[in-house]
Parts: sequence; C-alpha cells; structure tokens
Amino acid sequence: MNRTQPRRTRLQKPKRTVSIVGTGSYVPERVLTNAELAKMVETSDEWIVTRTGIRERRIAAADECTSDMATNAARAAMEQSGTAAEEIDLIIVATVTPDMFFPATACFVQKNLGAKNAACFDVSAACAGFVYALEIAQQFITSQTYDCILVIGADKLSTIVDWTDRNTCVLFGDGAGAAILRSRAGSHGVITTHMGSDGNYSDILAMPGGACRHPVTKENIDQRLNTIKMSGKEVYKQAVNAMMTAAMTALEASGLEKDDIACIIPHQANMRIIEGIAQRLDVPLERFYLNVDRYGNTSAAAVAIALDEANRSGAMKIDDYVLLIVFGGGLTWASSVIQW
Ligand code: ACO
Repeated sequence: MNRTQPRRTRLQKPKRTVSIVGTGSYVPERVLTNAELAKMVETSDEWIVTRTGIRERRIAAADECTSDMATNAARAAMEQSGTAAEEIDLIIVATVTPDMFFPATACFVQKNLGAKNAACFDVSAACAGFVYALEIAQQFITSQTYDCILVIGADKLSTIVDWTDRNTCVLFGDGAGAAILRSRAGSHGVITTHMGSDGNYSDILAMPGGACRHPVTKENIDQRLNTIKMSGKEVYKQAVNAMMTAAMTALEASGLEKDDIACIIPHQANMRIIEGIAQRLDVPLERFYLNVDRYGNTSAAAVAIALDEANRSGAMKIDDYVLLIVFGGGLTWASSVIQW
C-alpha cells in the first residue's frame, strides 16, 4: 500500500506549552501466565515468548470495570501532580471496552473521582487512543478552552477476547494509564503530535459484533462475533509500516534527529513489532521502554502504562526528548514528541 504521510496537524510549537504534569497507572492483581494459558488452549510458553515476547498478562476481576481501573490510574496521576478533583476541566477516556455503550466511561470516572467541574467523553481509536486523546487535550489547552485535562487509556480486553482462540487470546491483557495535562510556562511539554487512520484495513483487527452491524443476537454470539478477530500477519506488516511513518513524521516536524530522543515508548503489542521498528529506525532496543513481557497488549492503556512506568522509574529525565508511537485497529496510528 502506498501510505501517505499522516497529515501534519501543527508544524510549530504552540504558544502555550502543554505539559504532562503527572502520570499514573494501574494493573489488576490477577496474573495469567503462559503456563496457565497452555492449559486452556493448545499453546506453549516457548511459542508465546518466541513469537510475542509476552510472559504474563493481568486480568481484571469480574466486578472490576474499565472505569474502576481508569479511576485508580487517574488517582495516581492526580496525586503525583498535586491535582484536586475539582480542578479537572475535562476527562477523556480512550477505550474499546467501555463499561457500557453509554454513558461514556469518562462519566463513571468523573463520578468516582468527584470531578464535578469536568466535561467528559470517550475516544475510540483502539490501541492508538491514548495518543489521540493527548492531542485532543493539547488542542483544548492551546486554544485556552481548558486548563487542566485528565487523559486516560483503559481497557478490559479480557471481556472481548475469545478464550478458545489461541491465535489471539495469548496476546492481550487488562490495565489503565493516565496523565494530567496543564499549560506550563517554559520550554517543556508536548512538541508535536500526529495522527493517521486507514479505514480500508478496518477488517484486519476488529470486534465485529455487539453494535448495529451485527447486533447482540443468539446467532451472532454463537459465531463469537462479540470477540476480537485478527489477521495476525497483516496486522504485523501494517503495524511496522504505520509506526515507522508515524515516528519519522514526528521527528521531522520536531526538527530532532533520532539520536536526540532519549526514550522511545512504543505501543506494547508484541516484541517482534517493536524489534522491527528498532531495526528500521536503527535505534538500539535499550532506548525503548518495554513492559510487554509483563502485561501483554492492553490496547489504549499500553502506552499510558509504559509512560507512567518510564516516568516513575527514571527512564526519562527532565529535559529528555521522548517519542510515543502507537498503532491500533481502524487502522489508526499516532506519534508524539514530548520534552519531559
Ligand atoms: N500457540 C501455538 N501455535 C499457535 C498459536 C499459539 N498461541 N497461535 C497461532 N499458532 C499457530 C497457527 O495456528 C499456525 O499453525 P498452522 O501453521 O498449523 O496453521 C502457526 O502457529 C503459525 O501461525 P502464524 O499466524 O503464521 O504465526 P506468526 O508467526 O505470524 O505469529 C502472531 C502470529 C504472533 C499473531 C504474529 O502474526 C503477530 O505478531 N502479529 C501481530 C498481531 C498483534 O500483535 N496484534 C495485536 C493487536 S495489534 C495492536 O495492538 C494494534
């Protein structure tokens, strides 16, 4: 496919610098190991680790919703940034596994936090959703519409995984990550963000059932249309291409070279995709922040959890340039260069 470069949404730094002033994350307690999966479907730890790099993933409790995980991640980000619930002007939750079709999961988070002054909505951009939500937040702050925005990536994929399909069930997990964005004087902050989509590939990674195209009927449920369907090889190919394009576009727009970037935080889908990007970017894997071995692919939460872990572990330091690159069903992709 001759993929055009993602359209540049902004070529210059905004007048108001938009900074991530706090991050947080949450993963459920329950660990599901590859050995346990091997008792559920015909697979092995060796196959999963070799093909994906995933060793274990977290599974939320039956009564633990996406909004509960999102709330826990949000509380950690609020604590780190010293943000009170009343200060939050907007809550955006990126998710493909909302608590309900409506109300938005962001509204449940608002209720849990007591963020009574916030407007709330969800964003659907699959695994790219967190960076899409960051860009939306950035635009609202730059336009001086809002001052303080809570952005969350949260997914409970365990509820839409087909646990009898070894092609997909080994890949995914549950979790949430959050960031608080504010306008802050000085040079630090989000430098550039790019988003792209290609609906021509909507069928290679999807949950076809449960909405108006294939409503909840016995027949559709019997066909497991309410679970993730994926063409693994095609997704792999498109993911590497799209994430490369996204990375190069963000680098070019920021005026930085790849060697200026201290930490690359990619979507944590699988190690082979990340290795493919590292190889093509010609950047050593040591500069990538990785946790896919511990959590698998947590969709919109993945890059947000990794961002929080990189922040708290010191993998990114003040002044460092950080590159986020994400890719998801849609297809959707996005990238962001941030000065920490
Ligand atoms: N355990 C053992 N065998 C398996 C498993 C498993 N869990 N899954 C598939 N196999 C089998 C297949 O059935 C097939 O057997 P066959 O040859 O008898 O038919 C064989 O392994 C090879 O299957 P392939 O699909 O060719 O395996 P491949 O090497 O391509 O790896 C994988 C599959 C890991 C899914 C790969 O295609 C991939 O990484 N794709 C990217 C998908 C991805 O990461 N999706 C996440 C969502 S993307 C996102 O987040 C944006």
